[in-house]
Amino acid sequence: MASSAAQIHALGGIGIATYSSSSKSNLNVKGSYMPISGSCYFFGARNGPFTTPTSAFLRMSIRNGSRYAVGPVRVVNEKVVGIDLGTTNSAVAALEGGKPTIVTNDEGQRTTPSVVAYTKSGDRLVGQSAKRQAVVNPENTFSSVKRFIGSRMDEVAEESKQVSYRVVKDENENVKLDCPAIGKQFAAEEISAQVLRKLVDDASSFLDEKVTKAVITVPAYFNDSQRTATKDAGRIAGLDVLRIINEPTAASLAYGFERKSNETILVFDLGGGTFDVSVLEVSEGVFQVLSTCGDTHLGGDDFDKRVVDWLASNFKKDEGIDLLKDKQALQRLTEAAEKAKIELSTQTQTNISLPFITATADGPKHIETTLTRTKFKELCSDLLDRCKTPVENSLRDARLKFKDIDEVILVGGSTRIPAVQEVVRKLTGKEPNVTVNPDEVVALGAAVQAGVLAGDVSNIVLLDVTPLSLGTNTTLRTDSVMSKIIPRNTTLPTSKSKVFTTVDDGQTRVRFHVLQGEREFARDNKCLGSFLLDGIPPAPRGVPKIDVKFDIDANGILSATATDRATGNKQEITITGSTTLSKDEAERFAKDDKQKREAIDTKNQADSVVYQTEKQLKEFGEKIPGEVKEKIESKLQELEDKIGSGSTQEIKDSMAALNQEVLPLGGEGASSTDSSSSKGGDDVIDADFTQ
Ligand SMILES: Nc1ncnc2c1ncn2[C@@H]1O[C@H](COP(=O)(O)OP(=O)(O)OP(=O)(O)O)[C@@H](O)[C@H]1O
Ligand SMILES: [Mg+2]
Repeated sequence: MASSAAQIHALGGIGIATYSSSSKSNLNVKGSYMPISGSCYFFGARNGPFTTPTSAFLRMSIRNGSRYAVGPVRVVNEKVVGIDLGTTNSAVAALEGGKPTIVTNDEGQRTTPSVVAYTKSGDRLVGQSAKRQAVVNPENTFSSVKRFIGSRMDEVAEESKQVSYRVVKDENENVKLDCPAIGKQFAAEEISAQVLRKLVDDASSFLDEKVTKAVITVPAYFNDSQRTATKDAGRIAGLDVLRIINEPTAASLAYGFERKSNETILVFDLGGGTFDVSVLEVSEGVFQVLSTCGDTHLGGDDFDKRVVDWLASNFKKDEGIDLLKDKQALQRLTEAAEKAKIELSTQTQTNISLPFITATADGPKHIETTLTRTKFKELCSDLLDRCKTPVENSLRDARLKFKDIDEVILVGGSTRIPAVQEVVRKLTGKEPNVTVNPDEVVALGAAVQAGVLAGDVSNIVLLDVTPLSLGTNTTLRTDSVMSKIIPRNTTLPTSKSKVFTTVDDGQTRVRFHVLQGEREFARDNKCLGSFLLDGIPPAPRGVPKIDVKFDIDANGILSATATDRATGNKQEITITGSTTLSKDEAERFAKDDKQKREAIDTKNQADSVVYQTEKQLKEFGEKIPGEVKEKIESKLQELEDKIGSGSTQEIKDSMAALNQEVLPLGGEGASSTDSSSSKGGDDVIDADFTQ
């Protein structure tokens, strides 16, 4: 990506940048780095903090080489943020002064709960405000939605029983989340989109700059559908998702950023809903993922569930009542369980007190009990065991031994559980490195990658791998096996092919199913799509030769091609994932959301115009000629009426009409924007949401 290196300095005016080449010989091949030693002279212009120049010119000379390049380069000066879209909490970071920095949300917090709720009156709440009211509105409060994204109902049967809202399936067996408050069933992508929207809105106000581009992280072990669904969520939120990167890889970027030494690290990432392990080699800005492994159904939620079940079964024993059937009680139990779990990370025992958890004819019932760290460990012993296999597998896939690992980096809130740290310690024989903030490091790393893509960081190369094997099969019969084409942990981008032939005499067509997973039998793996190669000349079985080629680009997008050697006939598909939303649906949601946002924004702006005008009339009313004042007042009344009952366009028209009357007065009048609705300054708010 030579041009990305070029983009960097075109932003900042005139100056000099020095590139140092890396010792890694494969950099050239990957094409994501400019392996040039020497100086780069550049000329560029930046018009203002928030304007986007369309092009600049770059000149490049190489100290000892003969190449000389001159030409316009695309200049990117819009901030690209890194987003950790977590099961429980999400975080945003951006490069500030060359350093990845967490962006605080509108509530001043560094992370935002990934929770969305609809109130009985249909209002939408996102983040802390949604989390806060979960107990009183459990059926309409959506948390841990990431566990459902890009999944079919049969893949999440267990998870769907653990949440307080109703998880249903649509006619295609895809997961939908039922929201009785507004009578709608949401795809998980739509709910995640609301979280993303809040994150970027808050980031826009924090950074004082409109944010439309992002790098979003996903668990390394997410399959193609889950990745695509995450990208769709970004699209619904109106975001341009420049890259999806793996969470442990992002963590390593943040850890290794500015670190010069060569290290082999193991990232152990246990969050709220997923578990990932990656082994990486970090040396002089090159981040090479050697292997990755994980479990997308293991996280802090499962530890909470163990405590919930323990509390519920004790209660059932004592009172004969099943609290798990009562949504509100379940929500309270879940919150209390998480609180107890967190307390047990610093204390050896904790009290759980849930007064009025339910009531019978005998009166109210309460839970009052003590949970010790030892009991908690016992309740979760199988979950702790499940952390071991991915660590061992990832090491084996990387062809390394524990002694080869220099650092074990703990990521994710659940790594604060002492028993989890103990597992890591015992397994690896190493004291885990706790220098990174487990809640923030993924977003920080995403911001580093965002910086690379925006052209603000030049000396980092990321070589990631595909987490799951990809293969094909021509039948999905129960006994047919998957023929692997790209094995798991292959460095991206990659291209691999295999030769296939016909199984019947005279066979003229073959259907290829594109599969992802590690299972032997085709039917046990995830089918990402299928395509048909037609027009094969009739021949005895085994004679035709069909080349099947799989390509995965740096974004992890797979294309598959089948070519009949005899005729050159070719069929191809680009797998964009068997997402649970159709493209049309995703676009419609995006449009709906945009309209809603525009409506809210216009109203806010109109309110502030009314306020400003009234204020000015009060202050300067005496000096304004009577008829002018009357006109202003009448337009003002009109605007107020439209705010109450008009359409977005009518409000805009009324605002414009009022402006017409106010502007000749020469003051700022109604044309100015109120800081409460326009944190971006004079020309930002309207343009933000109406274009
Ligand atoms: N001190 C603590 N002790 C134990 N668990 C904790 C502690 N702090 C946070 N957690 C747990 O960590 C989990 C959240 O971690 P984190 O924010 O890293 O996850 P996430 O990024 O939302 O999820 P994921 O990465 O799986 O998508 C929750 O289950 C939370 O209860
Ligand atoms: Mg996480």
